[in-house]
Amino acid sequence: MKIQTLVLLALCLLVACSDSDNDSIGNDFEHSVPALVAQMTLEEKVAQMAGEGSVFLPEGEQFWTVPGVERLGLPPFKMADGPRGVGTVEGATTFPVGMARGATWNPRLEQRVGAAMGRELRAAGGNVLLAPTINNLRHPSWGRSQETYGEDVHHLARMAVAFVSGVQEYALANPKHFAANSIEDTRFQVNVTIDERTLREVYLPQFRAAVIEGKAASVMSAYNAVNAQFCGENEQLLRRILKTDWGFDGFVLSDWVLGTQSTLGSALNGLDLEMPVARFYGDNLLAAVTDGRVPESVIDEAVSRMVRKKLEFGLDRPSGLGPSEIGSKAHLALARDVAVNGSVLLKNDGGVLPLSASAHPRIVVAGALADMPNTGDSGSSGTRPAFVVTALQGIEELFGDIVTIDHIGKDVLDPADLARVQAADAVIVVTGLTAADEGEGLIGAGDRLELGLSAQRTQLIRDVAAVNDRTIVVLEGGSAITMGDWLADIEALLMVWYPGQMGGYAIADLLFGEVNPSGKLPITFPASLEQLPPFDNESLEVTYQYFHGYRYVDRNGWTPEFPFGFGLSYTSFTIERLRASQIQAGAGDVVRFSVDVKNTGTRAGAEVVQLYVNYPDSVVPRAERELKGFARVFLEPGETRTVEIPLAVNSLAYYDVTQGAWVIEGLQHEVRLGTSSRDLPLSIMLSVAAQQDVSVQ
Ligand code: BGC
Repeated sequence: MKIQTLVLLALCLLVACSDSDNDSIGNDFEHSVPALVAQMTLEEKVAQMAGEGSVFLPEGEQFWTVPGVERLGLPPFKMADGPRGVGTVEGATTFPVGMARGATWNPRLEQRVGAAMGRELRAAGGNVLLAPTINNLRHPSWGRSQETYGEDVHHLARMAVAFVSGVQEYALANPKHFAANSIEDTRFQVNVTIDERTLREVYLPQFRAAVIEGKAASVMSAYNAVNAQFCGENEQLLRRILKTDWGFDGFVLSDWVLGTQSTLGSALNGLDLEMPVARFYGDNLLAAVTDGRVPESVIDEAVSRMVRKKLEFGLDRPSGLGPSEIGSKAHLALARDVAVNGSVLLKNDGGVLPLSASAHPRIVVAGALADMPNTGDSGSSGTRPAFVVTALQGIEELFGDIVTIDHIGKDVLDPADLARVQAADAVIVVTGLTAADEGEGLIGAGDRLELGLSAQRTQLIRDVAAVNDRTIVVLEGGSAITMGDWLADIEALLMVWYPGQMGGYAIADLLFGEVNPSGKLPITFPASLEQLPPFDNESLEVTYQYFHGYRYVDRNGWTPEFPFGFGLSYTSFTIERLRASQIQAGAGDVVRFSVDVKNTGTRAGAEVVQLYVNYPDSVVPRAERELKGFARVFLEPGETRTVEIPLAVNSLAYYDVTQGAWVIEGLQHEVRLGTSSRDLPLSIMLSVAAQQDVSVQ
């Protein structure tokens, strides 16, 4: 090793080790990064701008690799997927999918999930987690709905920041797919036309939060085009918004293979890294620099961004984490806790739940999904858990001693099955969707055009409900499922999404009241397809309008099946005494709203208090009500706590396209608080002073 290299190595170690003093780190990187880059040949620099290896991860490989520069002590990037667990690592913990975690409305829990995945990744030798997926759920037909957190940008932003912060305690996070990626079947070609206000207010704020508040080290560009430019070479998205407006100091990597469409356009417009292998970069990029079509400064910038993150995250040092991290007891317990917190009780007529040995000594568990591992899509978010606890297994293991369980593991029931169903004190029907119904395009099931259950599964519910009036449906799936008339026939409905490898225990605990359901819908469950904006999985040209989800349903005055933010509990709560730290406010203020929440029932439980605002007399079309804050509170029976929710006045701004600036209108907002978007009993007026050109939080 040359003496020069040794000096640089020592410098890097010094910089990376001194993480107690952020200022000095920042200053040192300003020097150490250019110093390192200056040592590199053009070939070495260009080699770091593309993955090495093949399109598909070879059998036995855990990570996609991007070369470092060994002689300078710069390690490679080692990447693995991760929305629900470190995908390619055998035995890594499989958490509930993003949508289930969105339903917890619990950013602190989500931060712990991120940290657990980060630890497992580093322990396995990886250093970049290809997660979180934070595309806005514009329409539940999107095949990858399950990967994201929901339909609302404020909620998405809070969950994204939490996950990114957690991961980045150990490894680099990679919010994806930037931007407006919400159709699978045409994802490689579709051009999404979006006016700039809609783009800035509806499709980008969660990325902005992940980058600015979460300090995400990297971002993955999407496959699709936005406003006629592919996202991997989109000057407006990558250069202007991400890198200039938001001051992003990390790097942009492309989505896999078809996410890069050109050499010049991509390099010049801000794509730092082509994944998973050089097609447009590599020799093509080298030639473009050599003959002057791409300035070397562009290469230096891209490489500097990556080198900086390697140093900041200390990737050149051993992680100190061992294999015992992977699928550890603590992470499995966390996965179970998240599944409990993210399940949403949608119906409980006559208080049929929770089940008890005295009232329900003989229980039938029915349905093909009851004993089937069902953790979600088989595409890139797929995982390799050491085991999966099914609903049946969870119920049998935890409650098999106190009740008699009769398992009918099929969807089509014959007269003998129906007789068993009829004789039971309660029937748990486990049904819903699987990876065969929805998932990633090309490598999974793709988009889901029918939002109801299959005819067979619908019939299963009807058949059971016809002979037993204690029919409890446990529903699995990645996003909204339309119910139709079977909903009226059943007594209870528990939405568990894809609840991860510990899901069966969580389901059992919830059904038997060991824990109290507290999840809330992070999306609207529409009454029918007509309550959704158009979804086109064939056309290569689509336009996204401003309204979707609850904003769309509210605007049209429709009643959804279950509204955004909704979820029942086994206990009851009152929310009283709304007050505000101020009732007149302006740009930069943070107004604090508080309420007293009381558990008026007999069981401990959690409630999620939600804060919405409206915009009467706005000069631009606005939502009828818009989520701007939420807080989850756990209460013992009879306990009262004061819950405070901050509202940043800047978050009320709209994007004025003519000025290219965020504008706060002088309005009298009604601020409403309650427990779902359609149950907001408390309100207070907030008078906000106009302000042009604010920077938004
Ligand atoms: C997906 C990404 C994923 C990548 C690597 C792509 O097809 O869109 O989300 O990270 O594959 O598996």
